Amino acid sequence: MPWVVRDVVNDINKAVGRRWRSLDPLLPAPGQLPQGCGAPLVVTGTDGRAVGLGACVHQPVPPGSLNQTWGAATRFILTPRLGGQDTAASLGALLSQWRDHLAGVAAAHEDDTAAFISWPTRDITGVRALLRHGLQPLTVVAARTRPGTARSGTARSGNPPGTARSGNPPGTAWSGIARSDSAPGGNGRPPAPPGVTIRRAGPLDVDTVFALEMGVIEFDAHFGGPVKREATAELLYAEVRASLERPEPAWTWLAERGRRPVALLVTQPPPDARWISGMTRRSPAAYLQTMFVIPEERGGGVGTALVRCAHRELDAWGIDVTLLHHSQVNPLSGPFWYRMGYRPLWTTWEARPALSLRGTPRSPAVTSQGGNLLLVARNSYGKLTVFLKVAEVPDVIGAQNWERASVTGSACRGSGPRARPRRRSRAGVPKAGSWAKAEDTLSVRS
Ligand SMILES: CC(C)(COP(=O)(O)OP(=O)(O)OC[C@H]1O[C@@H](n2cnc3c(N)ncnc32)[C@H](O)[C@@H]1OP(=O)(O)O)[C@@H](O)C(=O)NCCC(=O)NCCS
Repeated sequence: MPWVVRDVVNDINKAVGRRWRSLDPLLPAPGQLPQGCGAPLVVTGTDGRAVGLGACVHQPVPPGSLNQTWGAATRFILTPRLGGQDTAASLGALLSQWRDHLAGVAAAHEDDTAAFISWPTRDITGVRALLRHGLQPLTVVAARTRPGTARSGTARSGNPPGTARSGNPPGTAWSGIARSDSAPGGNGRPPAPPGVTIRRAGPLDVDTVFALEMGVIEFDAHFGGPVKREATAELLYAEVRASLERPEPAWTWLAERGRRPVALLVTQPPPDARWISGMTRRSPAAYLQTMFVIPEERGGGVGTALVRCAHRELDAWGIDVTLLHHSQVNPLSGPFWYRMGYRPLWTTWEARPALSLRGTPRSPAVTSQGGNLLLVARNSYGKLTVFLKVAEVPDVIGAQNWERASVTGSACRGSGPRARPRRRSRAGVPKAGSWAKAEDTLSVRS
């Protein structure tokens, strides 16, 4: 990267860092832009200086990977860096460029694709631009900090990962921080509802843990995040087995009523949570991967007891922050997690398929010529539409083109001059005073 460009990147990154810091103390310092598919997208201000950058990473997820269950098969991930206090205009411009870029990428025209962007939840200045460009707030990354810890943390930098969840089997069990003396054993645990016991899972629980994990995927699939694929069950089973067979099993807890398993909670310790820990400046970070209570046990306190049990252990281990994903529109998870002490940190916005991302809707331009009004509008895909309001039988355009014009006054609603719908004239020639929508091939004579 030439030094001039590097300086621009550094300046913008510094501005973004200050902005993030003032918005949310849990956000990380912005990391370097990832190596995108080409040169970064650049947004310039009115004075021609760069005010924002974006890198687009193309991520094809192999079919044999469990990661494909957590989203589209091919993901196009935009990492934005936008200076200034209000990102509305610069984000809009960046998203338009991104849409133009994706339109030229063959793989982005496939169905099983997503355009994906992680945006700090507290940065409300970008929300309208994201919505206007057709992105949907599908998933939230929520965070819970250990009670009693200072609000500031060691600054660390990072970029939000593109995928909703890691598909890799957890690595070795975590032993990085000495376990405190107050670590709860069976005695220190908060009470579970009567008749329910909580214990750690082991290798013999593979079928149970697998079934409960599948329960979450099936439940969350209602909300447009995970995609249950042909290979999902097989890949998930293998991951669960590998995780439970580790010398020190992952942090997996089961709740049972009598001998019947009723709920599951799985947490990744810091070494396994590295794929997401860059989303916050606090560390060490764990990731709460799975939480599921069988339907007939919900609303009775099992979930609360299981989470409190896990939190007691995480706090005792010195975990500073715990992250998790929940679907934005899951009616059970959001309220539950926020009562459990979590709060939103990042929102991941997606357009599926990728090219449902919209370009900038441009405002129509209206001009008048000899008493005739000409309105030129371009829709979000760049298609040009010309509307004409004719004061007299025109000399404005060629007669043969009128033949192809149709009277669609209502199409102008909400943009530019208000027009009353009119009946299509028999020969396709609009009457004087009516609005006509013409083909974009019309030639206009002055
Ligand atoms: C989200 C989920 C884990 C919550 O588990 P749960 O066992 O129903 O949770 P709890 O019973 O502890 O709390 C749920 C509700 O029961 C109420 N409740 C009833 N008796 C209770 C008790 N004795 N103690 C605590 N809460 C009790 C809670 O106040 C809470 O009320 P709400 O309706 O206002 O939310 C569960 O609904 C679930 O598995 N959902 C499907 C999968 C899912 O969404 N997973 C999370 C993916 S991120």
